[in-house]
Amino acid sequence: MDNRAIGIFDSGVGGVTVLKELQKLLPDESFVYIGDTASFPYGSKSKKTIIELCKKRIENLIDMNVKMIVIACGTATSQALEEMQAMFKLPIIGIIKPTVKYLKEANLNKIGVIATAGTIRSNGWEEKIKESIPQAEVKNKACPLLAPMAEEGWTDNDIAKLAIHEYLKEIKNIDALVLGCTHYPLFKKIIKEEVGENVDIINTGEMVAKEVKEYIIKNKMQNNDNENSNTQIYLTDLECNFINVAKKLLQVEDVNIQKIG
Ligand code: DGL
Repeated sequence: MDNRAIGIFDSGVGGVTVLKELQKLLPDESFVYIGDTASFPYGSKSKKTIIELCKKRIENLIDMNVKMIVIACGTATSQALEEMQAMFKLPIIGIIKPTVKYLKEANLNKIGVIATAGTIRSNGWEEKIKESIPQAEVKNKACPLLAPMAEEGWTDNDIAKLAIHEYLKEIKNIDALVLGCTHYPLFKKIIKEEVGENVDIINTGEMVAKEVKEYIIKNKMQNNDNENSNTQIYLTDLECNFINVAKKLLQVEDVNIQKIG
């Protein structure tokens, strides 16, 4: 048993889509979330910068004595997961591997991937998909405007509809659309309208939560002091719209935010 919290981080509010799924599947666990809002967006930064930022956020979480870390960010997973796993001893889980596992099990071969510019440039999704599903056809599209719009809370207005239409207009004839950036589940309703009912829209947070659950059960790391389980949220910069978007996403009246870094 291990009653320490699970650490999670992202550049901003996107990782809250992963936190939400973790809370749903692991209600007895405690969580510490860091939104690296001072460094948002990660999607336009170089691999070197992403590695430096991930190292800092992981050190913050280790200082808070977490038992494992979830990189709730496609950009950071695709460009820094292996480096972080080599650098730190505690378990670190990203969003790509659990999602690829699902694609394979569900026999989905015609796959669209939408993500930040950095993620698409790194080819992280396509490489891992093809390693596991050699016959897969992958269509990638960078959608650099979506994460900033999600931070702004613009996820269900005409501008969001236009942006999604523009980004997705060439991604046709697919079985599944991977939301390769954790901000994108915030646009799920509009994305569904755009791609239609027959496309499996993949929220990576659901797959990550399953993977974390399996991992902590297998390694006997569950929290057995569930009466004291809680979620703490830290941001590296408080001048942002994080609270409003997070409240809506988590369907809570208020979220308590502290400053870090
Ligand atoms: N939510 C992140 C991702 O999954 C980062 C978006 C950004 O900061 O550009 O890629």
